[in-house]
Formats: sequence, structure tokens, C-alpha cells
Amino acid sequence: MENRNIIEHSFSVDLEMRKKLLGQKPLLIWFTGLSGSGKSTLANQLEQSLYENGFNTYALDGDNIRGGLNKDLGFSLEDRKENIRRIGEVANLLMDAGLIVLSSFVSPLKEDRDAVKRLVDNENFLEVFVDCPLNICEQRDVKGLYKLARAGKIKDFTGVSSPFEHPDNPDLIIASHEESIDVSVNRLLDKVKRHLSS
Ligand code: ADX
Repeated sequence: MENRNIIEHSFSVDLEMRKKLLGQKPLLIWFTGLSGSGKSTLANQLEQSLYENGFNTYALDGDNIRGGLNKDLGFSLEDRKENIRRIGEVANLLMDAGLIVLSSFVSPLKEDRDAVKRLVDNENFLEVFVDCPLNICEQRDVKGLYKLARAGKIKDFTGVSSPFEHPDNPDLIIASHEESIDVSVNRLLDKVKRHLSS
């Protein structure tokens, strides 16, 4: 639907002023990967480290998004596209508030992830591919969903009956089945700090 008669009001406090106040640049750290690959676990630990280093952050994941703002959406590719689009818009607002945003969603389609990247500007976007093979996510089956998907009780399940497109050129790849969480979080922190000081 087109925007009609929407005329922006110009507010006097802008991003440059908020950046100065907070002493940081906004950034979107986008975790993508299969269900059970460890995205939220990594995002949670990274956020803790960033907090301890004095950064202002906010984490988005299924718990605070799919239960509220996106509770009308399911898992068809069309709904996932809308899920990611809205998350991108929310992340964009949080970044305009000056925050470092950590986002953990399967986000299986490249074009949906790329649309978010364009929205927030490439240079403010760090794509982190949590690269854990399907068979290991399935063995872990933390939420018991792979079992249900294999039994045909959940349809369109990523990796089983719905696609996952690997990122072509992620900023960081975390093989969460091979690397300890502490090592991964240190690599992430390093990357984020370098990005923020550039
Ligand atoms: S996304 O594809 O639209 O980005 P999102 O990250 O929000 O997905 O939600 C994925 C989470 O929802 C999974 O980790 C899993 O717990 C749950 N889930 C429920 N049904 C499905 C499904 N059909 N495919 C993938 N994940 C599902």
C-alpha cells in the first residue's frame, strides 16, 4: 500500500546527537542459520560482552518478535519475508536510536537478508553465518521440532521441507559445532570492535 499524505515532522534531536551522547556508532549484527545452530546463544553471550565493554545494545529474536509484533505470521516463504522485513524496519529504528542491534532469525533467503542490508546501509551491517550442519542441528533437536518436522507434523520446516540459502559472503562464519562458544564470542567481539572503530 502506498503512503498517502504522510509528511515527516523534523525532530530536533538527530542521530548525530544521539551518537555523541552514547559515544558509539549504531550497528546491526545479523545472525543467520538453521534452527538449533546456536544463533541466540551466541547473540546472548556477545550482548553480555558488549554490555561489559560499555556498549548500548538491544537483541531481537523469536521470543520478543514472533510472540508479539509478528504473531500474525507463520513459516511460508511469504510470511518469512514479511517477518524479516518488519525485523529490518525495527532494527533500523533501534539503530536510529543509536543502538547496536543483535538479531537472531533463521532468515533463510538471501534476498530477504540483502533487503535488510540495503535498508540499514551495507557498512552498518555485519552478517554472521552460524554454520552448523543440518544433521548436527537435528541431533541436538533442542526444541524437538526436527522430530516433528520429519514426522510431517510441522510443514515448511527449514532444512527439512523448506530451503536455507547459505550467505555468499558473510562477514563472519561461526562453525558452532567445531568451535567453543568462548572462542566464537571473542572472534565476534573483535570483529565488532574493529568495525566500530573504523
Ligand atoms: S524465519 O525463517 O522467519 O527467519 P524465525 O527465526 O523467525 O524464522 O523463527 C524460527 C524459529 O521458529 C525456529 O528456531 C523454530 O524454533 C521455530 N519454528 C517453528 N516452525 C518452524 C518452521 N516451519 N521452520 C523453521 N523454524 C520453525
